[in-house]
Formats: sequence, structure tokens, C-alpha cells
Amino acid sequence: MPTLAQIMMGNPVVSAVYERVWRPVFTRLFSFGGPGTAEYDRAFTAYLARSGDRQILDVACGPGLYTRRLAENLTGDGRVIGIDFSKAMLDRAARGPHPRTAYVRGDAHRLPFPDDSFDTVTCFAALYLIPDPLPVVDELVRVTRPGGEIAIFTSVETQFSKLHTVQAIGAITGYHFFKPHEIPDRLHRAGIARVEQAIVDQGQFVLAHKDQG
Ligand SMILES: C[S@@+](CC[C@H](N)C(=O)[O-])C[C@H]1O[C@@H](n2cnc3c(N)ncnc32)[C@H](O)[C@@H]1O
Repeated sequence: MPTLAQIMMGNPVVSAVYERVWRPVFTRLFSFGGPGTAEYDRAFTAYLARSGDRQILDVACGPGLYTRRLAENLTGDGRVIGIDFSKAMLDRAARGPHPRTAYVRGDAHRLPFPDDSFDTVTCFAALYLIPDPLPVVDELVRVTRPGGEIAIFTSVETQFSKLHTVQAIGAITGYHFFKPHEIPDRLHRAGIARVEQAIVDQGQFVLAHKDQG
């Protein structure tokens, strides 16, 4: 049975307000209204959106706000593919096309791409909504080419999120709080040696580098 969070992400009204209202408000909530998470997010995505002839995959792309951002400075044959399983979100993404972006409907648990396909694989603000999220981390690693990078933004368990009321809201909505070591551990288990993690208020940004092999 889909969780409340999954139902919301499939709703055309939510997808219509997602980019301009929902995501900015939610990002601020990670810092209790302060600028911390939003500022880190800007710096993180500015780094990921660096120029180059790179192939990028944006997993659980929603309406494509980061997909487009990641495409801005690409050169040569550089492309960004956004994948999401919500038709409503992808319909919104299709309204703001960019010549270097393309969208695919699919499940993050079974990415329809061969091993070692992408220079950069991102997954922002989605793992905490996915009922079985750690196998998705394995998929992100699988499709990243040796020498490539995986970038994740997701939740992290804190003193605040351990509060009973917050846990109860998480249980009702299907929102998951990751223990601080959970995502890095899974990346290490999938064969990644170098993992950088920045915990910013209620969120974590993770950058993992797949060895050249
Ligand atoms: C909160 S939105 C995040 C959108 C965008 N990445 C961002 O950072 O704003 C979460 C997205 O994850 C998608 N999603 C959730 N589970 C998924 C799955 N198993 N496969 C693909 N997409 C999924 C939802 O449809 C939704 O569009």
C-alpha cells in the first residue's frame, strides 16, 4: 500500500506547487526556518552543475528542478536524464524542457540503465520517502561509472527527530529518518571507499566517489 508521502508525490496539485512552494518551504524546515540547508544546497548543486561533457542521472527528479539546474553548464554531448515514477511530476518536468535534459518514468529500485553509465548520479529529497531505500543506494552506485560520483540529500536522525511526536508524524506519512551512519555504511558496503558526509541541521548531504577501478 502506498504511503501518504507517495500519494502526495503522485498528486497533480502537489506537483504543480512543488517547485515554487513545497520544496523551498520544506528545505527551510530542515533548518527550522533558518538558511543553513538552503545555503548548503546551493553550494552543493553549484559544484555538481559544473561545466563539462558529462552524463548525469537525477534519480527521483520530481518536476525536474535539479535536472535542469544540473544541465545548465554542460558542454559537448553532456546530458541529464531525470527519472521518477510519478506521472504528475514528470508532466510538470515536461513543461520546462531544456535541450540537454530528458525524462524517463521508472522505479529507482530498478534503474533501466547498464552498470557504470553515468559520471554523476544524484538523488535529492527522495530516499526518506521510499519505503525500502537502501537498495536504491546500491542502484545509484551500480549505474555510476568508475571515477564518477554519487550525490545524495536526505534526512538524518537527530535529537529532534527522535521526539515521539516527530517519530509519530514520520510513521503516519511514511517519512524515514536515517541514522547518521546508515547511508555512508551502505555506500561502503556497495564498494565505495571515499564518502564525504555533511550533516546540516535535520538533513545530510553525501558525496561519494566511485574508485577508478
Ligand atoms: C520530494 S520529491 C524530490 C524531487 C527532487 N529530487 C527534489 O530534490 O526536489 C520526491 C520524488 O521521489 C519520487 N519517488 C519516490 N519513490 C520513487 C521510486 N521508488 N522511484 C522513482 N521515483 C520515486 C516521487 O515521485 C517524487 O517525485
